[in-house]
Amino acid sequence: MNTEEIKKLSDHYLLNTYGTRKLALVRGEGMRVWDADDKEYLDFFSGIAVCNLGHCHPKVTEAICRQAQTLVHISNLYYIEPQVKLAALLSRHCFADKWFFCNSGTEANEAAIKLARRYWTVKGTPKPDIITAEQSFHGRTLGALSATGQPKYHYGFDPLLPGIHYVPYNDIAALEAAINEKTGMVLLEPIQGEGGVRVPDPGYLAAVRRLCSENNVLLAFDEVQVGLGRTGKLFAHEHEQVMPDIITLAKGLGNGVPIGALGCTDAVAEGFAPGAHACTFGGNPLSTAAALATMEILTAPGFIEAAAETGAYFLNMLAAIAADHDTILQVRGRGLILGVEFNQPVAPLIGALLDAGIICGPAGPNILRFLPPLIADKAAVDCVVAALESCLEELGW
Ligand SMILES: Cc1ncc(COP(=O)(O)O)c(C=O)c1O
Repeated sequence: MNTEEIKKLSDHYLLNTYGTRKLALVRGEGMRVWDADDKEYLDFFSGIAVCNLGHCHPKVTEAICRQAQTLVHISNLYYIEPQVKLAALLSRHCFADKWFFCNSGTEANEAAIKLARRYWTVKGTPKPDIITAEQSFHGRTLGALSATGQPKYHYGFDPLLPGIHYVPYNDIAALEAAINEKTGMVLLEPIQGEGGVRVPDPGYLAAVRRLCSENNVLLAFDEVQVGLGRTGKLFAHEHEQVMPDIITLAKGLGNGVPIGALGCTDAVAEGFAPGAHACTFGGNPLSTAAALATMEILTAPGFIEAAAETGAYFLNMLAAIAADHDTILQVRGRGLILGVEFNQPVAPLIGALLDAGIICGPAGPNILRFLPPLIADKAAVDCVVAALESCLEELGW
């Protein structure tokens, strides 16, 4: 099928949740993807921070194929070998002692909300309230949507989950004022992705940790977008050496095979008992085999360090462009999540870049967001930077 044919069927048969799109992508390899009309693109969005190892990484593909020929699904009524191997590998690399697997970021955050509420109930001191940040993004299911501090995503879905309060991000005084005896959990992205690639000030996350500990409140980090090497460390909270009690992951974990995860300390894990929470597909053999292969590559010596170096190079190049363009208000980010804030909507720029064969995306109306695969090299960055410069010129920005 060509692009027009795919678009026509899509318009006819799919709910219009994604609107009109320009491309139908049908093939990928490494940093490159091809559309249904065989035009090639350099993918600097990675399926929204998912294909961190690039498209169709041979080792992940091999693991998927091997597992597909062995056992695709069996349910959590039975032990699952790749699932336990994945949990053990994740625990070797972070604070979390115990894991729960699901299929997406929103489900991982649902699990976090349920775990926090049940944890305090089981302890005999129910504290149902949750504090999240303005401009946060935690997912689209009703609990995670309620936790998302962006009213534009809430429209038409009232009543939302009660007991959720929002505070300005990066404002420790506001958080301190909001915590009370009903607060059971603070849920934050260590860097806000969807909300505009917002990196908090140094010391903010440590101060949040201190406040949570002093007030007996659980701290959860949503690393669905910024975890797994995206920021130049395996987990974004490592930059500040601040340990949460709960972490949520998804996106890059299976390099494209849907999987989400919640990790927590042994103490917090006491909140769930058999039957308290479950997921039919969660952590099934296929998704965990893919995630295990992905994690083995991500954690190989030097892999993430190389991505961090490419990210620093990219950030410098973007800063140099910003110095020559008054339309750019700020360049920010860490590792390979980078945002360029303009003084106007970036949709025309994203369209121009697409025409030039570069895929990237927005993070809010005025912010251009780059989420290249972690295998991106300096030559690929140079190519994107050159395209960006000529698109800015073309648009007169
Ligand atoms: C920080 C964060 N949390 C949660 C989600 C939701 O993940 P999913 O779309 O897999 O449900 C996203 C998605 O963009 C995200 O960026």
